[in-house]
Amino acid sequence: MRKYAQIICDMEERIQQGFWKPGDKLTSIRTLSADYNCSMNTVIKAYSELERKHRIYAVPNSGYYVVEGGSTGAVDNGNTSRIDFLSAGPDKEAMPYRDFQHCMNQAIERYQEEMFTYSEPQGLYSLRQQLARHLQDLQVFTVPERIWVVSGSQQALNLFVSLPFPNGRTNICLEQPTHMSFIQSVQHHDVEAYGIEVSGAGVDLERLEHIFAHHQIKFFYMVSRFHNPTGHSYTNEDKRRIVELARQYDVYIIEDDYMGDLDVNLKQDPLYAYEPSGRVIYVKSFSKVMLPGLRLGLAVLPEAMNESFRRAKFAADLHTPLLMQGALEIYLKSGMFQAHIQRMRELYRGKAILLQEAYKKHLPAVSALYSEALSGFYSTIELPRGIKAKELIQHLMQENVEVDEVEKMFLPAFAKDTMIRISVSQVREDLIEQGIRNIAEGIRGLCERKHEVVVFK
Ligand SMILES: Cc1ncc(COP(=O)(O)O)c(C=O)c1O
Repeated sequence: MRKYAQIICDMEERIQQGFWKPGDKLTSIRTLSADYNCSMNTVIKAYSELERKHRIYAVPNSGYYVVEGGSTGAVDNGNTSRIDFLSAGPDKEAMPYRDFQHCMNQAIERYQEEMFTYSEPQGLYSLRQQLARHLQDLQVFTVPERIWVVSGSQQALNLFVSLPFPNGRTNICLEQPTHMSFIQSVQHHDVEAYGIEVSGAGVDLERLEHIFAHHQIKFFYMVSRFHNPTGHSYTNEDKRRIVELARQYDVYIIEDDYMGDLDVNLKQDPLYAYEPSGRVIYVKSFSKVMLPGLRLGLAVLPEAMNESFRRAKFAADLHTPLLMQGALEIYLKSGMFQAHIQRMRELYRGKAILLQEAYKKHLPAVSALYSEALSGFYSTIELPRGIKAKELIQHLMQENVEVDEVEKMFLPAFAKDTMIRISVSQVREDLIEQGIRNIAEGIRGLCERKHEVVVFK
């Protein structure tokens, strides 16, 4: 574990165990940097993180003190801690409530009644200008006129399923598995859907070409980075190839880049960068990296679709709540979003590394296959033959470890009942390894019960 994360874990543990009580002064920065053999900057960074989590507070020219009634971040369940690999939202400790509250107040003051009347379906122009600027950081170059503010990215995805597209087709192609809300949209609209399996190695491009060539596909819906649930990210080469296929067979691509902000690899391009003229429709969410309850997202549309999307958006909810739009504009403009994202990148990258280390250590011994995710929240574990996800989930509940099943994230023809999803966002760094160890022990126990041979490496 890195020193920065180690200091945070140790301090939280000492506070939790009552070694330090509310109001106690913490060890000085100088002493702690000597104790951990690290720079004073590392200690300051760790203390700032604890301060942000409201565990400690700073008194200028004095030091850091333990907060009265600060929580530890572990989910308390009687005497034991629950390890929550189930919750799909962002780390609750890292959500920018206070900053956003400030932006909402500012939005009311600055725009006054404008925030509380009916408005234009496409979204506030001044917000779309900010969004166009922000998108440049993600290699998405566009103009406010092509950006649509939507009530969560799911709203745009759901509208696309039934919206007429310029290619005049209705069938869609989607990765298998994919997140449950999109599966529900497809089922709700009863459209013809062609699945393509996505694994750690990505999708089989020959199979994708076959689907494009033979099934009159309107669009291919795909998550380009940190896929939910597998954590998979496409290589630039694969992205380029998919765009070529889309051009060749007149297929649109819905690129869902819901966690693109978390990518530390600046060399990763979105598919949009290879085809910015409209064939790739770029969709972004503010839920996973910020606050899901705001219901804020965007879509970059080809101009030819502006009118049909306007009608569909108007019919769905007239427009996205203006107070949220105004506050997001101020949040972006003030630089708060950038600062928040920097912290989130470090946080989730750190958790992903700890998770992969725990997988390497514990899962090979029980022959369970895991997916590699370099950041984001999600990855999957494919269980050894004969073990069903439901059985493992039930067993783990007794151990206070919660995980999700992946079966509901498939179209019925593709469904697998032998996969679980691990979401690492809400699990404290120091509990990640213990949780994975419990899962490995659970798998081993079920294998033994079934008299299966367990391969030990
Ligand atoms: C990959 C992916 N895209 C989009 C969404 C929808 O997100 P929202 O509507 O909150 O922006 C989700 C939700 O879980 C998701 O996992």
